[in-house]
Amino acid sequence: MQKTKTLPVRELLMPLPKHIEEKDGVFRLHHGTTISYDPHFLEVAKLATEQLLCNLGGEDILFKFQEELNEEAYHLKVSKNQIVIKAGTKSGAFCALQTLRQIALANDNLIPCCLIQDEPLYSWRGFMLDCSRHFFSPTFIKKLIDAAALHHLNRFHWHLTDDQGWRLPITGYEKLITVGSFRTELNYTETTRYGGSYTEDEIRDIQEYAHTRCMLVIPEIETPGHASALLASYPNLGCTKGPYEVQDRWGIFEEVMCAGNDEVLTFLQTAIHQISTLFTDPYIHIGGDECPHTAWQRCPACQKRMKDEGLDSAKQLQSWMTSKICKMVEAEGKRPIGWDEVLEGTEKLSLPSSLIVMSWRGEQGGIEASNLGHEVIMSPNTAGCYFDYKHLDSFDEPGNIGVTTLEKTAEFSPVSPSMDDQAKEKILGGQGNLWTELVTSARSAEYLLFPRLSLLSERLWNPQDLESFETRRTSLEKKLTLLDIQHYKGKSH
Ligand code: ACM
Ligand code: ZN
Repeated sequence: MQKTKTLPVRELLMPLPKHIEEKDGVFRLHHGTTISYDPHFLEVAKLATEQLLCNLGGEDILFKFQEELNEEAYHLKVSKNQIVIKAGTKSGAFCALQTLRQIALANDNLIPCCLIQDEPLYSWRGFMLDCSRHFFSPTFIKKLIDAAALHHLNRFHWHLTDDQGWRLPITGYEKLITVGSFRTELNYTETTRYGGSYTEDEIRDIQEYAHTRCMLVIPEIETPGHASALLASYPNLGCTKGPYEVQDRWGIFEEVMCAGNDEVLTFLQTAIHQISTLFTDPYIHIGGDECPHTAWQRCPACQKRMKDEGLDSAKQLQSWMTSKICKMVEAEGKRPIGWDEVLEGTEKLSLPSSLIVMSWRGEQGGIEASNLGHEVIMSPNTAGCYFDYKHLDSFDEPGNIGVTTLEKTAEFSPVSPSMDDQAKEKILGGQGNLWTELVTSARSAEYLLFPRLSLLSERLWNPQDLESFETRRTSLEKKLTLLDIQHYKGKSH
């Protein structure tokens, strides 16, 4: 019999599994292929019928339970007549399915015989989408979650509030939607009103979609800065009481939540309580970045708060607020996450140890936080994790002020050589961020995300270098094209 020629499995996958043994022969996936499953894996098996276009019933593909396999770990054995997947958790079975799906997409449904044993290096493998600067539809968000999950990413950080729009409902604060979710002072936009928000049902639906794909959803509510949309809706929450506008310029704005006004704390308490109910996963991101203190310096209420609390500086006042907000999150049984500015002004009031620090201004914040005993997510803008930046330093490339080449992302590591073993233990993983000041469409979001997000997924799962990526770039592009995902095809550095 003539042998079917195919690429080896290792050229079809991104991220590359930890262990692959290539074997002779292929399994042909087709509409008649059948799936059986251990009851633990009912949900994954159903998804498999959709993603591989086959049916439940027979035993061509078999999902078996093997208790001793860790979270996200799996074994995949492909022989000519059968595929056997073994996992000890739903996430393991799901990751195996994504590996299989990648091979099917890249290789015209021919699955080369092989033995794969796989598990991730880091537990936090995330991506962030800014839905405030530009609004993205639930359909598009699901498309991205699916594409990210295909790469074994497992955290969707959803940036929902900022100066340019508030995007989720809070009962009792309806103006957040009627006022805060639209901008009308249109500097850069041709329409007369720009905005949008997600309903509770849409948010629940997106979460359900993500959970089916073993992806947690982390909502971010910016505090105390980046708050113009909140202040435009409720001017009494600012130091000068307004009037304020939902911004249509990009940048950092001086007016922030008034730290001296108890109504701000009441609002935050209410918002965090409702968000904790609506979002069912264990984390809430509380922002904390880029908060100027100019308004606080001039505000009698903020100055009084500092005096009453014995605080020496506005930075300490921000830290006082961070602590208050963290306690609200903890009281709901969730873990707070903050951008690395939360480490500032902590001389008097150390931060709650449950706070997870997201290091974005390089790696220094993450290193410092890990030395203080905080858990850390690395997302340094200097080291390959900012996907709003251009792919190349070229006038013609779309993107924001910085440059993140494919090479840079391909070199990213969440741990740095200067960390000792104890600090390294605190690094949960990493994350790629897409800020969307200049990203006006779903297509341009895809172009900026891919293939950098694919590269990042590999650095967090099983790190390979750029050269290895180049051998798999064609197959990756084939998969992205089949999924109708726009992507950058230019130079790597
Ligand atoms: C950030 O990029 N301002 C967190
Ligand atoms: Zn104030």
